[in-house]
Parts: sequence; C-alpha cells; structure tokens
Amino acid sequence: MSAGVDMAVSVGGVALANPVLAASGTFGYGREYSPYLEPTAIGGLVTKGVSLRPREGNPPPRIVETACGMLNAIGLANVGLEEFLAHKLPWLAGQPGAVVVNLYGESVEEFAELAARLGAEPGVDALELNVSCPNVKEGGMAFGCHPGAVGEVTQAAVRAAAGKPVWVKLTPNVTDPMPMALAAAQAGAQAVSLINTLLAMAIDPQTRRPRLANVVGGLSGPAIKPVGLRMVWQVAGALKIQHPQVDVVGLGGIMSGTDAAEYLIAGAKAVQVGTASFTDPAAAGRIAAELAAYCTEQKMSAAELCGSLRL
Ligand SMILES: Cc1cc2nc3c(=O)[nH]c(=O)nc-3n(C[C@H](O)[C@H](O)[C@H](O)COP(=O)(O)O)c2cc1C
Repeated sequence: MSAGVDMAVSVGGVALANPVLAASGTFGYGREYSPYLEPTAIGGLVTKGVSLRPREGNPPPRIVETACGMLNAIGLANVGLEEFLAHKLPWLAGQPGAVVVNLYGESVEEFAELAARLGAEPGVDALELNVSCPNVKEGGMAFGCHPGAVGEVTQAAVRAAAGKPVWVKLTPNVTDPMPMALAAAQAGAQAVSLINTLLAMAIDPQTRRPRLANVVGGLSGPAIKPVGLRMVWQVAGALKIQHPQVDVVGLGGIMSGTDAAEYLIAGAKAVQVGTASFTDPAAAGRIAAELAAYCTEQKMSAAELCGSLRL
C-alpha cells in the first residue's frame, strides 16, 4: 500500500510492490543507481541486455541528443553471461525489487542457452527477450519483425527457462505489432514489453556526416510516447480477447507519474522508465511516487487503472 491506495500489481508472472520498473540499457545492472534511489522506491529493474559472450558494442559516437529525446547505437555492449552471473547477479539478488534479466542472442540456440542458464538462477524473477534491437546486425530486429521468428525464439526460451516467466520485448519498427505479440503469446510468453526504440538517424549539417558512427540508431524519450501508447493500447486489446493470461508492460518516453498512468490506462499492467534515468538518475523512484499520488487522487488502485481507458 502507498499513500492509501494499493500500488501492488502482478505482471507476467511476477509480483511487484509497484508497477514501475527501470528499463533495460538505461539502468546498468542496478548497482550503479543505488546511490540515487531507495531500492524499495521502484517495483524492480530490467538489466542491460546480457549476451553469451561479452560485447564491446558499436564504435563512438553512439549517443546523440535530439529534440524531445535521444538516439543510441550502443550495439548491446555488455559484460557477457559469465561475468553477469559471477559479479552482477549476486548483488541484484539481494535487492528487494524484482529482477528481470534482459537477454540477447544471435540465434535461436543462443537465446535458449541464455534462457536455460539465467532461468536456473533463483535470483532471477523473469527473463525479457530482446528481439527488437535496431543497432545490431545479427539477430535483434531481424527476429522481432517476423511473427514466425518471434514465435520460434519465444518457444525455445520458454522451454529452456523451465518455468521461469518469459517476457518478449517487441519492436515498434513494424506497421502492426499485433502479429508479433500474438506469436509471443502463442509460444508461451507471460508478457510482452513494448516499445523498444524507433529506428532513426541524425545528421550534422556542418560536416554533412551522420552524428552516429553507426549512421542509424534507436530513438527514445518523450518523442516516442504517443507511438508507445498506441501500440500498447492495440496489443493489450488484442491480447485481452485472444490470450487474456498474457500481460503488457508499457514503455517509451515515460518522464512523469502521469505518463506512467497513461500507459496503465492504455492497458499496460506495469511500466518501465528508460531515457528519463539519463536526465535524472532518481527519475524511476520519483515517477513511482508521482504515480501513487495520481492513483490516490483518482481513488483507484494501480490494478484498477490498468485498461481503464474510456472510449
Ligand atoms: C542507451 C540505451 C540502451 C538500451 N539498451 C537496451 C537493451 O540492452 N535491451 C533492450 O531490450 N532495450 C534497450 N534499450 C531500450 C529501452 O529499454 C527502451 O525500450 C527505450 O529506450 C524506450 O523507452 P524510453 O523512451 O523510456 O527510453 C536501450 C535504450 C537506450 C536509450
């Protein structure tokens, strides 16, 4: 309970004290942010995407500020599975919030191997499959744009994870996200998270060069919130009818408690805060507190707010 209303939610097989999670790639492995917010301020976090081997990612510059947002072409730089298990997960497992591990493979077999290893860890509450990264050549969005591939990756991960909830992170870089969401649900995902970043680019007119070394990257931040809301609303509506047991986790441009509320109203069971943590490392905690204040004002629990859009 927070400020008189119940903020607890159950999403994708995970119980959260409040519906706000920190988003993958914007919150490190959690510990980096521990000086800035109380561990109980948020429902939990999603780690930076973990791959089988360490990755250096793309060459710099790989981050650019844009109007109402930012572009990134990090290319999934991460410490790799072994280092994550040895040095990142033990700290995370001792924290009160939920630990969702975002993972990335270059093939179905790699997704399955990661799901098996990470799913066997008691400190991991759920797995989030990144089938939607716009900044890598192998795997990434190539999987996430085809319902058949989303279904295959999801099914392999669900089997390998041996009962641990699997969430699938979907791309907005498609005309219609519903076939991908339905394929993930059909294959046993307990939630779909959307949206990942929008494929975009920026040019320096003085040099006539792209601002990112990778030329293209992913757009995030307030600029993408209307796209995220639209996709969450569409997908939540379709899942409610065809796979009512599968939840939607909403993200994209959440900077305030009312932004988070909009995603819940659109049909998300929980939300993730990404780019906002770059402008203020305490943002996710502030947003959770603002959401609780909004729910109190509306006299609605977080769960009641979900899918409460009036049409
Ligand atoms: C620098 C950066 C790194 C990211 N890394 C990952 C990642 O490793 N895995 C993933 O699924 N999403 C990753 N994302 C996408 C975010 O989790 C999120 O989906 C996206 O930024 C939209 O939310 P936002 O507007 O709140 O940032 C990354 C985003 C940024 C800005």
